[in-house]
Amino acid sequence: MKFVEAQRIQNLPPYLFARIEQAIAEKKARGVDVISLGIGDPDLPTPGHVIEEAVKALHDPANHQYPSTAGMLAYRQAVADWYARRFGVTLDPEREVVSLIGSKEGIAHLPWCYVDPGDVVLVPDPGYPVYSQGTILAGGEPYYLPLTADNGFLPDLAAVPDEVAKRAKVMFLNYPNNPTGAVASKEFFAEVVAFAREYGILVCHDAAYTEIAFDGYRPPSFLEVPGAKDVGIEFHSVSKTYNMTGWRAGWAVGNADAVQALGRLKSNLDSGIFQAVQYAAAAALNGPQEGVAELCAIYRERRDLVIDTLNGLGWRLEKPRATFYIWAPVPPGHTSASFAELVLEKAGVVITPGTGYGARGEGYFRISLTLPAPRLAEAMERMRTCIDRVAF
Ligand code: MLT
Repeated sequence: MKFVEAQRIQNLPPYLFARIEQAIAEKKARGVDVISLGIGDPDLPTPGHVIEEAVKALHDPANHQYPSTAGMLAYRQAVADWYARRFGVTLDPEREVVSLIGSKEGIAHLPWCYVDPGDVVLVPDPGYPVYSQGTILAGGEPYYLPLTADNGFLPDLAAVPDEVAKRAKVMFLNYPNNPTGAVASKEFFAEVVAFAREYGILVCHDAAYTEIAFDGYRPPSFLEVPGAKDVGIEFHSVSKTYNMTGWRAGWAVGNADAVQALGRLKSNLDSGIFQAVQYAAAAALNGPQEGVAELCAIYRERRDLVIDTLNGLGWRLEKPRATFYIWAPVPPGHTSASFAELVLEKAGVVITPGTGYGARGEGYFRISLTLPAPRLAEAMERMRTCIDRVAF
């Protein structure tokens, strides 16, 4: 029997990293020792005290039942306390915090709360693919905000045509930024608040990388800026900060109406995060934070290794101040796809073509620093021997 897929699924491409996973599997099947610098998935383990908390919670039968969909109050309180300590942002855990099964889930579902067919959603390009796919699934139209090197990979809000801004219901932003590694100042966030207020747009800021930063830099939360809570929410999670991508524990915080609308939608779709995981994530947020600084020191070393290697080959890259990504132009004469293919074929190294993050990613590739230093060093050595010196 052949079933006809709904139009919305026919239009949905396979997820970027599903495609990359398949390319890796094909190479491995042919005996190639593939090194993947593709997905940003921390290789280091979840801290021991977090695992212990999960094990303890696993033994409690109360946690074997349905969790609270919005998240246990203890979990939401841990999120609120962490925001207060880390950013000086006050949140009411009952009204302004909702749990998510990883922030990806909330980002994908948010447009269902505010976007009717034909509404516009402002989406950064390049950007995390879920912003546009979530928009399209809800029947909305992404309007792409170009992030260019000339603008420090910040969108030029003044360049958004008035008629587009008037039709826009939601705007996605993400700083520190995936894939470019760019950071945003509180002054930029203040401009975003003014723009959102003028046009009645809900700002959805994805803050997943605020804790991965270097050289003394401390990325701000969007919610630190006056008025941000009136116009926006922020997505975050324990994934990147505590090496917990597999646990699927995130949250949305900020504007109470938007947080509750998302919670209402989710209560009809899923049944929340497994409570043992909620206890573990709360332990990560409430517990010792020294491990985060150690993690950043490890990523900093890896960042320097990659940047120094590429600059030794002719690139002229600055060291990103945050995230575990290196965003770099492809050598002249290449497209994103042809360069990624060359590196895979000649070096057995997977890099992510910039076009995986949108049309404006053309001419770039991304390297993720989430693999052990010796493997990363080997990947860099292989790239060094397979790429001729390039002139930019
Ligand atoms: C990425 O590699 O872009 C991220 O790991 C994707 C994600 O956070 O889901």
